[in-house]
Amino acid sequence: KIPRFRQVRGTGELYTSDTVMQNPKFVKATVIKQDELYNDKIYYFFREDNPDKSPEAPLNVSRVAQLCKGDKGGTSSLSASKWTTFLKATLVCVDPATKGNFDLLQDVFIVQSEKNWRETRVYGLFSNSWGYSAVCVYTIGDIDTVFRTSKLKSYTKDMPHIRPGQCLWGRNHTPPETFKIADLHPEVEERVKPVAPRNSPLFHNKNRYQKIGVHSIQARDGHTYNVLYLVTDKGYIHKMVEMPHGVLNILEIQPFQQQAPILAMTLDHRRAKLYVSSRSEVVQLPMDMCEVYHGSCESCVMAKDPYCGWADGKCVSVKSNLRKADPDGNPLSYRNVTVALFSRYFLCCPTESHAATYMWHHNGSCIQNCSSTDGPCLHFIENMTHDRYGRYTCISEENGFSQTLVREWLLKQPKPSQTLMQRGQAVATSSSFWLGFLQMMTLALLFQ
Ligand SMILES: *[C@@H]1O[C@H](CO)[C@@H](O)[C@H](O)[C@H]1NC(C)=O
Ligand SMILES: *[C@@H]1O[C@H](CO)[C@@H](O)[C@H](O)[C@H]1NC(C)=O
Ligand SMILES: *[C@@H]1O[C@H](CO)[C@@H](O)[C@H](O)[C@H]1NC(C)=O
Ligand SMILES: *[C@@H]1O[C@H](CO)[C@@H](O)[C@H](O)[C@H]1NC(C)=O
Ligand SMILES: *[C@@H]1O[C@H](CO)[C@@H](O)[C@H](O)[C@H]1NC(C)=O
Repeated sequence: KIPRFRQVRGTGELYTSDTVMQNPKFVKATVIKQDELYNDKIYYFFREDNPDKSPEAPLNVSRVAQLCKGDKGGTSSLSASKWTTFLKATLVCVDPATKGNFDLLQDVFIVQSEKNWRETRVYGLFSNSWGYSAVCVYTIGDIDTVFRTSKLKSYTKDMPHIRPGQCLWGRNHTPPETFKIADLHPEVEERVKPVAPRNSPLFHNKNRYQKIGVHSIQARDGHTYNVLYLVTDKGYIHKMVEMPHGVLNILEIQPFQQQAPILAMTLDHRRAKLYVSSRSEVVQLPMDMCEVYHGSCESCVMAKDPYCGWADGKCVSVKSNLRKADPDGNPLSYRNVTVALFSRYFLCCPTESHAATYMWHHNGSCIQNCSSTDGPCLHFIENMTHDRYGRYTCISEENGFSQTLVREWLLKQPKPSQTLMQRGQAVATSSSFWLGFLQMMTLALLFQ
């Protein structure tokens, strides 16, 4: 009748004291290996009734609890089958702008760090009583620090020599006085805040999300992106990318033939697949659904999906051996332009995105950088000398995706034996470009 967190196999049966949680709803549990074996911990996440019954306090609180994996139970007959290293802390998920409190933990996803267990990230999906959702991210390092250093709530005396929650080496049991204090004061005073520097939700919005999954992917720029998959109560999956200043909503997926509530979602990180199930279907989805961005380079790149990039006229998965936008490319993809020797010429590259950088390459090396705020990226050639002929490409780069926007091959006039007529044409071409340049300048001025 009373929910407990139990160890049912192994050295002996252990369960949590009935007084340490009030009406808990368990959400997720995980084992985190620490530097020494005896310090390995179990963390579990749950909601419970708020012991603070004051009218302004929320009814429910979300918690993380810790237990030592090697907990051997107490020494007395009463405590022999109880966990003796239990401590719990409140998880804070508050929007600082509105002071809106997201107090109902719905789901948790753990992203293990291979380098350092302290950097392992806990993605907590929360909701509030108005049906809004928020994701707050915590690190195991911060959780561990709170449990190791915080005072216990409503305990004012000195801490015993062996602190409540401390894991013990070898065959040692938690001393009875330590267990007694922890059992009466299982909550630590300090609360666990979302990861620095923002200490606030990664995002919040008005969807009722029910489940969260996170997959880390290395994009072509070498950066690792965390991609979030959130299941809505309407049977959709929202795919988002975590960026330094928040998240980008990139795709809404309706996984089933007929819209239906999603009962479960599992991530296969190695094969980059999602598995989702309804009452009647199980569907396998590739994480790199690049075809959905259609045939347009813009929609592919602007989708900012770190799984996808534009190559060979298609939106393709970065897994499928994508080439970097190459400054040279196929000769046939160039627009060939004849330019008179010692004349003026300019090259124009449209700038569409404020987040992108644009650059002009000549014969494969970068000759000019532009920022998109100054209008189109223009490259002026004051005097068309011999070494200025050749291949020009304009390349844009945004979040590690690069694409070639303009390719021009500036060619000399065909032969010295050309007629005056031909020369006239060439001059006409370049003067019409000059007119184009004037129009461009006007546009640039209008935009400023
Ligand atoms: C919130 O707390 C109330 C009152 O204590 C309890 O009845 C309810 O089940 C809790 N709800 C959730 C979602 O945990
Ligand atoms: C442009 O000129 C280059 C060099 O002369 C040539 O290789 C290429 O085929 C030409 N491209 C087109 C589209 O005519
Ligand atoms: C343009 O910027 C890139 C990257 O910052 C740099 O490598 C390159 O040398 C710059 N080119 C010019 C012409 O300033
Ligand atoms: C262009 O460069 C050539 C060779 O350096 C020079 O003779 C000519 O005067 C220059 N033309 C202009 C308009 O600067
Ligand atoms: C660029 O390539 C063209 C031939 O395509 C050549 O005439 C020109 O001198 C080259 N310029 C530079 C700076 O490499």
